[in-house]
Amino acid sequence: MPRFPDNFLWGGATSAAQIEGGRCLDGKGLSHLDYVYYRGPKSPCNFMLKADLEKARKEESTLNFPNRRGIDFFHRYKEDIALLAEMGFRSFRMSISWTRLFPTGKEDTPDPEGVAFYHNVFKELHRYNIEPLVTMIHYELPIGFVDEFGGWQSPEIIPYCLKYLRFLIDEYKDEVKYWLTFNEINMVCAVPWLGGGIVLDNDPNFVIPKDFRPFAPLPPEISGIWDSASHQALHHQFIASAMIVKYAHETAPQCLIGNMFNLHHLYPETPSPEDAYRAHEESEFNMFFCDVMARGYYPKWILSYYRRNKIKINWYPGYEEILKDGKVDFISLSYYLSSIVTADPKRQERIGSFIRTLHNPHLETSDFGWQVDPTALRISLNELRDRFNLPIYIVENGIGAFETLGEDKTVHDNYRISYLRRHIEAIAQAIDDGVDVIGYTPWGCIDLVSCSLVSMSKRYGFVYVDADDEGNGTYNRYRKDSFWWYKKVIASNGEDLSDL
Ligand code: BG6
Repeated sequence: MPRFPDNFLWGGATSAAQIEGGRCLDGKGLSHLDYVYYRGPKSPCNFMLKADLEKARKEESTLNFPNRRGIDFFHRYKEDIALLAEMGFRSFRMSISWTRLFPTGKEDTPDPEGVAFYHNVFKELHRYNIEPLVTMIHYELPIGFVDEFGGWQSPEIIPYCLKYLRFLIDEYKDEVKYWLTFNEINMVCAVPWLGGGIVLDNDPNFVIPKDFRPFAPLPPEISGIWDSASHQALHHQFIASAMIVKYAHETAPQCLIGNMFNLHHLYPETPSPEDAYRAHEESEFNMFFCDVMARGYYPKWILSYYRRNKIKINWYPGYEEILKDGKVDFISLSYYLSSIVTADPKRQERIGSFIRTLHNPHLETSDFGWQVDPTALRISLNELRDRFNLPIYIVENGIGAFETLGEDKTVHDNYRISYLRRHIEAIAQAIDDGVDVIGYTPWGCIDLVSCSLVSMSKRYGFVYVDADDEGNGTYNRYRKDSFWWYKKVIASNGEDLSDL
């Protein structure tokens, strides 16, 4: 019995902001991610205070904005797709840049050159029988909407977004079968700038805590404001997503639309019932993002959570019907690590609505401290099957590492091979458990700009890109050892996971 179905969608994943570059070419407008600037090799960049944004604007000519360069996929997409084809890819996850089509988000008609660019990319993929998997919004929104609407906090963004999303379906429905609406929709509640274009201290009630640093615990009064802003933004994203799912079902029944959330598997730190309950609560919180999109309603417990935490949502008119009518066709997720929770609030840090993991002594960690845990993936896939009974597309997974090109013009990334092998094994086991996994697209199949560090030094690819954090380098592509390994995996449909 083969462990993977014959039509299993092996591939890899990217996003427009992290690969395209070509920032103002062919009339592309700037998105909020084009304003994120590099702050040093270990500094997360995805939190933006008002002063940071002002600085980004004032010092635009001197600061380093890696997302504006990407890896120059804009010019090199043919070469890149040929490399993916050489590995035998059957699926390629990419996103469309909202501002390449609608530079400010407000235009009535899209930029024709932007429209043609994506037609060309899809044509190139189909030439090699690679199925595009397209994320409609991979975090990005037009920068003007940050200034005018406070990002996704305001419902005023929804009509503009729907114009963009409807255009995508109308224009590309015959070239793209698999779509995702919002990338990692839960991230808006962990990193409101990244996921929702929210500059928190634009809110008059938000007083920046002394010594503010991203990923530090926030005092409760700040968490309250943070949670309200981010859950309001999330609500608007749920609405836009459900509306476009309904539209696609009505106008393009050949298309399948999925949600996309960051799967966060949680263990209690000890067998104490209190820790177990905390783990349960946090797991439910993680599943909530799927519940709304796949079941079509807000579960009752989250409404109690909102009440208890003084989170006030301005409900969008008719939202219950909208959510019910816009349920997704499949579940998609990113999965990188598992976490440990404790009932002791003094030992558990929060990042917005999320908890930060404690160390798990049973797991090894990556160069960046992410705890590697394939078994948690198997467990979660089983849970998702039981809860939603929908096909599952694993659209991100992988290991980020510091790497340099050797004199032999390759990278010997045996740690990546080992990481992916163990996760592919876990997926095969889950399939054997009866989970309908339809595809696997590891993250950053070609090295790209890291999302959290906005740098090139955190690499995920099968293909090395010769570019550094400052944008120096030839941008030439080189095959790593994992390139040859993954090619073998795909050719054997997941049967041969042995070393090279
Ligand atoms: C996911 C995002 O959160 O993780 C990607 O969807 C991101 O955009 C990936 O790049 C890995 O995160 P990082 O910070 O290592 O690039």
